Amino acid sequence: MKNIRQLRELMQESSLPSLVVVPGPNMSYLTGSKFHLSERPVVLVIEQNKCTFILPELESAKILNLDVDCITYNDKDGPVKAFNKFAKDNSFSTIGIESRTIRHLELDLLQTTGITTNFVDAIDIFAQLRMSKSEEEKEFMIKAVEIAQKSLESIIHKIKPGVTEKQFASDLVIELLRNGSDSELPFSPIVASGFNAANPHHFPIDKEFEKGDLIIIDWGANYEGYFSDITRTFAIGNIDSRLQSAYSAVKNANLAARELAKSGVQAGLVDSAARNVIDEAGFGEYFTHRTGHGLGLEIHEEPYIKPDNDFILESGMTFTIEPGIYIPNLGGIRIEDDIYLEDDRALSLTTLTRDLQFL
Ligand code: CO
Ligand code: CO
Repeated sequence: MKNIRQLRELMQESSLPSLVVVPGPNMSYLTGSKFHLSERPVVLVIEQNKCTFILPELESAKILNLDVDCITYNDKDGPVKAFNKFAKDNSFSTIGIESRTIRHLELDLLQTTGITTNFVDAIDIFAQLRMSKSEEEKEFMIKAVEIAQKSLESIIHKIKPGVTEKQFASDLVIELLRNGSDSELPFSPIVASGFNAANPHHFPIDKEFEKGDLIIIDWGANYEGYFSDITRTFAIGNIDSRLQSAYSAVKNANLAARELAKSGVQAGLVDSAARNVIDEAGFGEYFTHRTGHGLGLEIHEEPYIKPDNDFILESGMTFTIEPGIYIPNLGGIRIEDDIYLEDDRALSLTTLTRDLQFL
């Protein structure tokens, strides 16, 4: 299994005898296989000397090539018997869990069968394991960015008055799939025009694009499980002068954060580099979210580029830089890039222009 030795070292440092992983990014990372969280529980229990999968018989082909023990169950018997079988030889003082993913279903099976009753959150261990990307992971992310960029570029001419947010969003989804994104997109594209762009997480509606609108498009692709997450903002015709100054502020904030980010810098300082520019331009109250988030197998993962975060960034980490300004009843702007951190600079994997394009 991938990086199992590093994972075991991290477990030892945290005095954690065992760890349970459920379907999701960590399981995909370790096993290279995809599992779904469904009514049939799948768990991988990791200890220093062995790993054990408890899973439905019909899923067992996925782990044939892994060096793991395996206890299967069928639909007739259900999972309790399999968990009991494991419990006979295994009970733990403590078990690490993924607090954001594991469900009552799995916790209850671990508890009632006597495997353990003491759960501790282990998401920090997985964050440490996954934050710095390998060369291969970096290549997958570059590919995810390329697919996303190509997809938008091929339909950018459709941004014109009369086209609706929903129509454009659906065209973008089709292009992403056509250009090679895995079918499970990281998220549904955000297409927010005019006043709607003042809502950072707007869902596309039937509103038509109009002259004078700024249009925020936030989209991404999935390549081999790795995500891209990009935002660009476009204008149709002439826009309000206040929005023009806000656009410049966001563009300068994005640049300031990218210029400051390098290995050894605190994440919070990258956030303030962007925030200071927007504050100084007089739009501080309208920059209502953090500057960025880690990106990889998950759309939001560590490290978080947020105020006061003293976490030290290291080379190989991947995260977004995405300052924005959202002015109620006027409009909004966001410019989001995907960054791969190198020793002495922030390499932007996104290469689309950040200049305001008038369409
Ligand atoms: Co985004
Ligand atoms: Co983002």
